[in-house]
Amino acid sequence: MENLSRRKALSLGVALGLVGVANPARAWASGGPATGAAVGTGPEWIWDDAADPLMASMIDDGHVPAINAAWASWVNNDDPLPSGLPAAFAAYLRQANRLPSWADPVKLARAGDFNRRKDTYLFMLYGLGSGIMSTVIPREAKSVYWSAGGADMQDRAAKTFTFGYDLSELGAFKPTGQFVVTANKTRVVHAAVRHLLPQSPHWRAVADETIPISAADILVTFHSLGTYVYRKLLDWKVPFPAADQEAFLHSWQVAVHLLGVPYEHIPKTWAEAERQSARVLTPVLTPSTEGIALAEELLGLTAQIDLGVTRGFLNEFVRYVLSDEVGDWLGLKRDYASAALVRTAWPAFILFREGLSPVMPGAFYMFDQFVRALAMLFLNKGSSGTTTPITIPTGNRPG
Ligand code: HEM
Repeated sequence: MENLSRRKALSLGVALGLVGVANPARAWASGGPATGAAVGTGPEWIWDDAADPLMASMIDDGHVPAINAAWASWVNNDDPLPSGLPAAFAAYLRQANRLPSWADPVKLARAGDFNRRKDTYLFMLYGLGSGIMSTVIPREAKSVYWSAGGADMQDRAAKTFTFGYDLSELGAFKPTGQFVVTANKTRVVHAAVRHLLPQSPHWRAVADETIPISAADILVTFHSLGTYVYRKLLDWKVPFPAADQEAFLHSWQVAVHLLGVPYEHIPKTWAEAERQSARVLTPVLTPSTEGIALAEELLGLTAQIDLGVTRGFLNEFVRYVLSDEVGDWLGLKRDYASAALVRTAWPAFILFREGLSPVMPGAFYMFDQFVRALAMLFLNKGSSGTTTPITIPTGNRPG
């Protein structure tokens, strides 16, 4: 049985470019940043000492609607804290809402520039790769499905795009950027979820943990985003100089830290990140009832917007970026003509777009429209075209 799951993890890891020997039981204790961590002290045992007790009391004392109203206008990193926040909450934000001392402004600026230069691939990979991968990370799928936001995936997807958009923006971490605020809002939303979800009988019935969103879980999600995209860009032979790679990693290190993960558990190099990813992400990928429902909603959502492609093409693109195994888990219907097109014309599209080949593929305009439409979906922060504020939930999905 163990051999079978190890073999499965290996073949899936190869397909996703996340290779390595995977043994979930030793996931956090075998090298990497958690070296030496005894059971009980690794990141799977860390939640958020600063934000969790605070949010539990904010929810129980009924302060959340006032916080949501007060912070709607709090957007830019250098905006003063809004008035109307409970004193304890404002005191927490004064502490948390700043870059760590090790943040390197030169690297962060370079990451912003890199994100802008490669935005079409990034939107594509984050949106269709990482977004759909999140539905086969069972802990994530189950908590997203059973939290309040799970009942309205369109709104939730738009909010999640806000995080990616604000992170990818030029100057995201500068005083005039918005990412530090977005990350801090996300951190307290996660803290609220840690208090709320354990009260959901639906979530408790399917969860394999008592408190969701540990630091380990956040690192798993980071690998499904940053580490996955890093590997795909290399596999796709998109020009990615070392300084850009380093800057891209640094922006994610800062982002993950702003979400409350202690520095010592954050991978320091891409090699370390890939090793950790092979240990902690690849072996946990598996379908769940909740994940299948979420994937269908997410793909249905993208199909509502005219991406210039059929649903069959969308299914095949997801299969292309995530493997047929994941496509089969999610029941994505085959469209063999689109599959052939994606597998031959997409690499040619990248080469042509990057100026590495003079040959324009026949499907160039179709792909071009697809990536543009997908980018617009992100840039508009969802299909509504308006800013979607991140709000703290006060309950769970009713059922
Ligand atoms: C909320 C991003 C990790 C579960 C959010 C939100 C963002 C976000 C932007 C607020 C928008 C919204 O309400 O949907 C991230 C990022 C992560 C991460 C960037 C890691 C790098 C995780 C993990 C889990 C998780 C590991 C669970 C295992 C949730 C849930 C919500 C949420 C349940 C609340 C949705 C609601 O309002 O009901 N996350 N997240 N997140 N996240 Fe995360």
